[in-house]
This record gives sequence, C-alpha cells and structure tokens, in this order.
Amino acid sequence: MKAISCLKYGLSELKLEEVEKPVPRDNEVLLEVHASSATTHNLMIIEGKPFFVRLLDSGLVKPRIKIPGSDISGRVVMVGKDVTKFKPGDEVFGVSTAFGAYAEYTAVPEHELVPKPVNISFEEAAAVPQGSLVALQALRDKGGIQKGQKVLIFGASGGIGSFAVQIAKYFGAEVTGVCSSRNFDMLYTLGADHLIDYTKQDYTKNGQTYDLIFAIAYRSIFDHKRALKPNGVYVSAGGPSVTRIFQDMLIGPMVFKRDGKKLVGGWAVNPNAKDLLFVKELIEAGRIKPVVDRCYPLSETAKALQHYGTGHPGGKVVIAVQHSTKF
Ligand SMILES: NC(=O)c1ccc[n+]([C@@H]2O[C@H](COP(=O)([O-])OP(=O)(O)OC[C@H]3O[C@@H](n4cnc5c(N)ncnc54)[C@H](OP(=O)(O)O)[C@@H]3O)[C@@H](O)[C@H]2O)c1
Repeated sequence: MKAISCLKYGLSELKLEEVEKPVPRDNEVLLEVHASSATTHNLMIIEGKPFFVRLLDSGLVKPRIKIPGSDISGRVVMVGKDVTKFKPGDEVFGVSTAFGAYAEYTAVPEHELVPKPVNISFEEAAAVPQGSLVALQALRDKGGIQKGQKVLIFGASGGIGSFAVQIAKYFGAEVTGVCSSRNFDMLYTLGADHLIDYTKQDYTKNGQTYDLIFAIAYRSIFDHKRALKPNGVYVSAGGPSVTRIFQDMLIGPMVFKRDGKKLVGGWAVNPNAKDLLFVKELIEAGRIKPVVDRCYPLSETAKALQHYGTGHPGGKVVIAVQHSTKF
C-alpha cells in the first residue's frame, strides 16, 4: 500500500512510499482510509519542533512515528477477532491515537471509531474529529457554557474555531468570533452573532465583556482577562509555545483567581467515542457542519501541512486518499 513515511524530521522529508499493509490486532479494524486532516500535533511530530515534542512523544534524533495522521475517515475492510461494533463495509470516523492515517490503509482499535455521519462525505468527516472535540470539551467541560452567556471565540475561523462558533450557538450562547474579515461570510453562515477583525479592532478595548472566552490563536492572557466579566472563565486551547505554557499553567491561574476570574489552560483533548457520537448526532441533525478549507491528495500531504502551518485556513485542511475498490 502507499503511505506517507516520515523517517527524518522535516516536512521536506515526507515521502509517499510503498509499505506493507498492516494486519489488525484482535481489537482492531483494518480501515481503507478515505481522508485525514492536518493538525498541529502532526505538524509538530513531523518537524520535531518545538524540541520538547521529541522528548514527550517523538524520537530525540529521528521520528518515532513513521506514518503520521490521526483524524481519520474510511471504510472497514477487515476486523480482528474481538471486534464487535463493526463489520467490513462500515463507514467510520475517529481519532487514531497511534497515528498511521496518512496512508491507504491503517489498523485502528475499534473503541477509537464511531459510524460516520450519513449526511457528509468522507472528506468532510475527516475534518471533524479533533477540531470538534477540542471545541466541545473546551466550551462544555472546561468552560461550563450556559444558555444566554456571552461567549467569545478567539481564532474563530480555523479548524477548531469554526466548530466552536457552532457548538456555542448550539448551547444557546450569544457568540462573538475574532478572526480576519475574509472569513466573516463563512462564520455568519455558521451562526456567529458578531464578528471582529483582529487586524482592525482590539476586542479587549471596545468596552464589551464576556462570560466565557475560548482562545485558539495566541494572545497574552492579561489582555484576555480585561475582556472577561467578573466570575468569567477563560479557556485556552493550549499550544506549543513556552510562553503559553508559562502563562496558562504557572502564573495565569493565580492572577485570574485573585480577580475572581478563572483560567483553564494546559489541558489536552480527550478523544472518546461518547463525545464523537454526540458530535455525529449534531451533524446529522443539521445543527453543526464541518468546513473544509482545502483538500489535498495523499501525495501532497507536505503541501497540506505547509498550508495549515500558515495559521490562516478557513476551516480544516483535509488530505484525501483515492481508492478504486467498489463495495
Ligand atoms: N488543547 C488541545 O488539546 C489542543 C488540541 C488541538 C489543537 N490545539 C491548539 O489549537 C491551535 C490550532 O488550532 P486550529 O487548528 O483551529 O488552527 P487554525 O486552523 O490554524 O486556525 C487559526 C485561527 O486563528 C486565527 N488567527 C490567526 N492569527 C491570529 C491573531 N493574531 N489574532 C487572532 N486570531 C488569529 C485565524 O484567523 P484568520 O485566518 O481569519 O486570520 C484562525 O481563525 C494550536 O495552538 C494547537 O496547539 C490544542
């Protein structure tokens, strides 16, 4: 089978190669991969940057993860002997936590997959898993979002933000998004109530305050704090920068608490079937939808990640895998 192999650090080192098709373990399904997506974590493990990622979950000198890719949508072609939820032919999506999705086939434990929403394509489905789960868990679990609250999404137009706007609307919030104005039409269509172009206006200085701020793009927590109501909650999506770790995890919580506000940072998304099924139901009910910025073929995975790495996609960057098999 064809796969993107990552044997040395660097986007330019990614190669489309012929490798052996994996054999599923007892609790795994073999998937014919139809699509995956670009994510920050994949970019980090491919580039080996920032350096601490090599200590945490990649190799010190060369990548430990030989075939990257974690968001996944595809069709089951074979099941291990302990698999009970799926059979060959089923269309599924999820997060492959052991990576391997930038390939024609991959083996994934069945608990990491759920049935694909019936009303979207494989490409759209691959745009959903991590982006929607980060948004859902940030707003509902970390932020405790309530109906009628004023919620601000900082970095509203990307792969996470476009879900956050829709999920916050689903929970009954009045939603303000911050991004550049070229993405305003898309976000108004998705339901945003107010939009602010960060290149033209400083949202922390316009007199408005919010019950909940969810920040995906980077800005100092001390600026965000100004725009929080008393008792307001600021949730950060985290990120690779040392500054952010220092602000979100070390000094931020103390400074916010002193003012009666709350900061939630330094958390990681928890990919799980229960939340993904919740998202699937919202998609099938027409309450939320994935936004695909651009779709690249598997052979252009490096280009897809490069485009994602600019930090300005309007929605999610998807990698599609062509198959000729007919079911
Ligand atoms: N905690 C976790 O478990 C977790 C999991 C996954 C990802 N993350 C974090 O999430 C981030 C990536 O999110 P993503 O995939 O949604 O990114 P993305 O698709 O690149 O979107 C970036 C967003 O930020 C906006 N933006 C860029 N520069 C900005 C600025 N100076 N001020 C305000 N907004 C700005 C962009 O708007 P325009 O394009 O309109 O300018 C866009 O809306 C990374 O930091 C990653 O570490 C965290």
